Amino acid sequence: MPEQQWNSALYEKRHAFVFGYGQGLVELLAPQADEVILDLGCGTGQLTYQIAQSGARVIGLDHSETMLATARQNYPELRFVQGNATSFALDEKFDAVFSNAVLHWVTEAAAAAKCIAAALKPGGRFVAEFGGRGNVSNIIEATQMVLRQYTGHDVPHGWYYPSIGEYSSLLESCGLEVTQAWLFDRPTPLEGEAGMRNWLTMFAERMFVELNAAQKEEALTEIEMYLRESNYDGGQWYADYRRLRLLSIKQGSIAVSGS
Ligand SMILES: C[S@@+](CC[C@H](N)C(=O)[O-])C[C@H]1O[C@@H](n2cnc3c(N)ncnc32)[C@H](O)[C@@H]1O
Repeated sequence: MPEQQWNSALYEKRHAFVFGYGQGLVELLAPQADEVILDLGCGTGQLTYQIAQSGARVIGLDHSETMLATARQNYPELRFVQGNATSFALDEKFDAVFSNAVLHWVTEAAAAAKCIAAALKPGGRFVAEFGGRGNVSNIIEATQMVLRQYTGHDVPHGWYYPSIGEYSSLLESCGLEVTQAWLFDRPTPLEGEAGMRNWLTMFAERMFVELNAAQKEEALTEIEMYLRESNYDGGQWYADYRRLRLLSIKQGSIAVSGS
């Protein structure tokens, strides 16, 4: 599967809902002024900035130089570093690792969970939301059905959408205790009449690599036609999002001053 290329301009212009919804996750994180927090997969930095408003010291880490360049331009006062969720190792340990809309891009989930656990102080928390089991299943089904006509084979979607049980077990195997988990539907409005097309162009580009430009346009129109029944209502496109949200705590004794 080719690597996802991140278009930070299209992300901020048409998909700001991603960090808009992420504000609820910042509330679950409840950052405190004396904390050090890692925003894993920080993208263009909007939630990194929001966490920093609590007074906490935040580092944003992302794999994409394009997204990081925009994050640094948006918030020059914040620290952003390049790294991969599956292999990062920073010098300091964190009170919390926060991650919004990232981990479904990380198919090497065990490697990421190990890095996250290693980055936390004992008692530190990992707060994450990403696509869960069944996420965008209508969109995937329609896209694969249309693309099969062009390629003659099943085109993989390449995302990782685990269940609560699967992901909790993974975190537990890395020494993180899952204290709260939710898997919930969140039909997400997409902007404008081209909303579904824009979503596919932004997030599913990798699935279209075997098609030339004309075929891609044609395929997008066909996919829209199929999805109009299930994902379009009252003049509005919706992505059939299903989110997995978790709060977990790193096991191990917390150093208490004076003891
Ligand atoms: C949908 S954006 C979300 C950005 C941000 N968290 C937000 O809520 O706006 C997904 C981000 O995950 C990053 N990402 C994907 N795979 C990654 C990986 N293996 N390591 C680090 N970042 C990754 C992408 O570069 C992208 O910036």
